[in-house]
Amino acid sequence: MAWPVPVVRLALVAFMALMVAFTSAAPAEPRGIPQKPADDPFYQPPEGFQNEAPGTVLRNRKIVAGFFGLLPNPIEAHQLLYRTTSTNGSAIAGATTIFKPWFPKKDRFVSFHTAYDSSATICNPSYTYQWGAPPTDLISSAEMLLIEAYLISGYIVVSPDYEGPDAAFTPGHLEGMGVLDNMRAVTNFREKLGLSTDKPMIVGAGYSGGAIATGWAASLQPSYAPELNIKGWVQGGTPSNLTSTLLLIDDSTFSGFIPAAVAGLTMPSTYGAELQPLMERILTDKGREALDFARSHCAVANLLKYPNLSLFSKDIQTMGEGLLEEPSIKSVLGKNIMGVNKDETPTAPVFAYHAKQDDIVPYDDASRMAKSWCDNGADVKFTTFAHGGHATTEIVALPDALNFVKAAFDGKTESGCSRNTELKSDLDPLALGVELEPILNRLIKVLSNLGKGDENMKNNLNVLDKTVSTS
Ligand SMILES: *[C@@H]1O[C@H](CO)[C@@H](O)[C@H](O)[C@H]1NC(C)=O
Ligand SMILES: *[C@@H]1O[C@H](CO)[C@@H](O)[C@H](O)[C@H]1NC(C)=O
Ligand SMILES: *[C@@H]1O[C@H](CO)[C@@H](O)[C@H](O)[C@H]1NC(C)=O
Repeated sequence: MAWPVPVVRLALVAFMALMVAFTSAAPAEPRGIPQKPADDPFYQPPEGFQNEAPGTVLRNRKIVAGFFGLLPNPIEAHQLLYRTTSTNGSAIAGATTIFKPWFPKKDRFVSFHTAYDSSATICNPSYTYQWGAPPTDLISSAEMLLIEAYLISGYIVVSPDYEGPDAAFTPGHLEGMGVLDNMRAVTNFREKLGLSTDKPMIVGAGYSGGAIATGWAASLQPSYAPELNIKGWVQGGTPSNLTSTLLLIDDSTFSGFIPAAVAGLTMPSTYGAELQPLMERILTDKGREALDFARSHCAVANLLKYPNLSLFSKDIQTMGEGLLEEPSIKSVLGKNIMGVNKDETPTAPVFAYHAKQDDIVPYDDASRMAKSWCDNGADVKFTTFAHGGHATTEIVALPDALNFVKAAFDGKTESGCSRNTELKSDLDPLALGVELEPILNRLIKVLSNLGKGDENMKNNLNVLDKTVSTS
C-alpha cells in the first residue's frame, strides 16, 4: 500500500533533521589528507589490466566524502578504478566515485558528469570529492548541491573522472568512452553496492564541460556500449562544436579555458601523437608557459591568469591567424563536432537546454546538434532559456532536469522532438518539494553571487572563488 505523500514527506523531513542533528554531533573521522592523484597508488592500474574488458573494475575503495552538508552524513561513498579506452583505442584506466544515499532506489543510478574543465589531475573529481581535499570554487560547489539534489531524490549518483588518467579537457571520444565504461564498472560492482539487477537503469547528466562528456557518451553508446540500459540523457550548455566554442571565448573574460583545452587535446591519451610535434614547432615560450600552467592548475586559476588571451596571437604561437586551418588541427577539431555522423546519434531520449545569450558556449551549435539528432531519428526535447547566462542557466534549469530524469526512469518522456522556451531566470525554492528546499535555497544564494545573466562573473571572475558554505 502507498502512504499518503504528505505523511511520507513529513516523516522524511523529520528523519533527515534527526540525522543531521545526530551526525553533526559525531562527524565522520577523516583518514588524513587525501593524496594527490599523481602520488596516489590507487590510480595506477594493476599489471595486465590491458587484457580486461572495458568497464572491468580494477580496484575499489571506500572514501570519506567531503561535502554533503545538507544530507544525513556520513554518506556511503566508494571509488572504482576501471578499464576504459583512449582516443587511439588502447587500454587506459579511469576512476569514478559512487555516492549512495540512505534509502536508494536499487534498480537505477544517475551518472553525473561534473564540469571540472581543467587538464590537471589535481582537479579530478575523485580527488576533490574526498574529505580534506582543497576547497572547491563556486561552480563546483553548485554542482555538489546538484548531486545532493539527486541523492535526496533517492538516486545513487556516480561521478566519473571522464577526462581519463591524463586529465584531458574537451576530447569527445575519450570522455564519452570514459563515461560509458564508468557505467559498466558501476554495474559490475553491483553486488557490493546492493543493486537489485544486473541491468540497472541509467540516466547520464552534465552541463557545459560535463555536457561534452554526456553528449559524446550519448553519441557513442549505440556502438560502444549497446548493452547498457540507458533511459535518458540530460545535457545543458553543450559545447557541441569545439571550433566555434574556441572562437567565442577567444580574447574574452573566459579565454583561460583555451590553454586547458589545447592541453587536453594534446595529451598522449588523446591526439598527442598528431598534435604534439606541431605544438613543439609552433609554440613560443609564452605559449609553452600557458600550457604548462594549464597542466598544473584548475579552471578558476586558469581563468584568472589568462583573460583576454587570443589563440591567434603570435605571442603564443608562430602560425598566427592560420592556426585552425592547419590540417592536423582542423582534422582533430572536425572529429569533435556532435551530430555530424549519423551513426553517432543517441538512441535514448535526450533533454538538451541552452541559454540563448550564453557567452561561453554558442547557442546556435547546440541548437544545430539537436536538430541533426532529430533528423537522424533521436528523441530530443530542446529548451531555450531566454534570459540568463551560462552559469545561471545550469542552476535555473535544475527542476526541469530533475523532472526529465524522473520521467526518463519512468519511461514517460515524449517520443519525437520538441522545442520550447523558458522565460524564468530564478529558482522557486519549493519547485521540487520540501525535501529539496534547503538545496534550492543554497542554489538561490549561488545565483545571487553570479548576478543576472552571469553579470558578476563576467565583470569579476573572483566571484568564482567564493565557495558555498554548507554549514
Ligand atoms: C563548427 O564551427 C565552425 C566555426 O564556427 C564552423 O565553421 C563549422 O561550420 C561548424 N561545424 C558544424 C558542423 O556546424
Ligand atoms: C595511444 O594511447 C596510449 C594511451 O594513452 C598512449 O600511451 C600511446 O602513446 C598512444 N599511441 C599513439 C600512436 O597515439
Ligand atoms: C579584457 O579586455 C576588455 C575589452 O578590451 C577590457 O575591458 C578588460 O579590462 C580586459 N581585461 C583584462 C583583465 O585585461
